[in-house]
Amino acid sequence: MTILLTGGSRGKTSSRIARLLAQADIPFVVASRTVYDKVPYVQAQFDWEDKTTYSKLFADAKAKTGKPVSAVYLVPLENKNVGQQLRDFIDVAVKENNVSRIVLLSAASVEKGSFGWGEGHEHLVKLHEEVGLEYAVLRPSWFQENFSEFIYLPHIKNEGKIYSAMQDGPLPLISADDIAAVAFRTLTDPRPHNTDYILLGPTNWTYDEVAKILSDVVGKPITHVKQSKEEQVKFFISAGMREEYAHLMADLEAEYVASGAEGQLSSNAVVKVTGRPPKGFVEFALKNRQVWV
Ligand SMILES: NC(=O)c1ccc[n+]([C@@H]2O[C@H](COP(=O)([O-])OP(=O)(O)OC[C@H]3O[C@@H](n4cnc5c(N)ncnc54)[C@H](OP(=O)(O)O)[C@@H]3O)[C@@H](O)[C@H]2O)c1
Repeated sequence: MTILLTGGSRGKTSSRIARLLAQADIPFVVASRTVYDKVPYVQAQFDWEDKTTYSKLFADAKAKTGKPVSAVYLVPLENKNVGQQLRDFIDVAVKENNVSRIVLLSAASVEKGSFGWGEGHEHLVKLHEEVGLEYAVLRPSWFQENFSEFIYLPHIKNEGKIYSAMQDGPLPLISADDIAAVAFRTLTDPRPHNTDYILLGPTNWTYDEVAKILSDVVGKPITHVKQSKEEQVKFFISAGMREEYAHLMADLEAEYVASGAEGQLSSNAVVKVTGRPPKGFVEFALKNRQVWV
């Protein structure tokens, strides 16, 4: 088998799946808009926003590995076209390139058929029923690594501040390591999973509690700044996020997370699929202390 990982060599989940595949000696290609220097993996280029690059990606992956792609990990964008992008990409994979298994990264709050990633989820189920496509949909909560690899990082490090519109909303923060472990199993297990998994960390945390944990671990005060939705949109845009994504993320924070809805979820999927419990946030903070010092 050859596995195609979208999300590229630097994506929070795809980079970790790449490490697991390399350790298992399973051939794979990582793909995003960029071919990076000093990456020890086969890389290829494509752009979610340019449909003409999808077919070329499969041809390129085959040329570089000598084998056709058999399974794909999808890390979609967050924009208004993502449903169509997912349908187009999945069709190119399955109908033109005989890909037999697809694993989609979605989110805990996104149901099958709902706008965006839910449309991709629905399309996978449709192709499963029509042509026997093997699939899995991973539906994680917010990632622990948002504090160490995302736009919060420089503000935590330089100002001792975490800006959000989540107020006191609880989140079962999940480790990207656990998402990658579930992705690895769903991509490589001989028996297909053909289902969706809600992936949660072991504990609900508010961002006030996260700030307290990081303060204790780093040894300096880190505070949670509770912003309005409008302030959070401006923060995301000033941090480099595209306007459309900034609005979507701020809406999710202010209306969904702040309402407490994500804290109501429950799932044992990580332990069920990987055989080990999900990693906790304190363990994550201790392991990554250096990035905030
Ligand atoms: N972070 C969370 O808390 C969370 C929670 C639930 C679900 N999710 C979902 O998980 C997915 C990944 O989010 P993330 O923040 O963790 O990002 P990520 O995987 O760390 O990074 C996104 C990757 O996508 C690539 N990319 C960006 N634009 C692209 C384009 N036009 N075409 C091809 N590749 C492109 C980027 O590489 P290049 O720059 O090289 O193109 C980058 O490596 C998103 O759909 C997100 O909403 C995230």
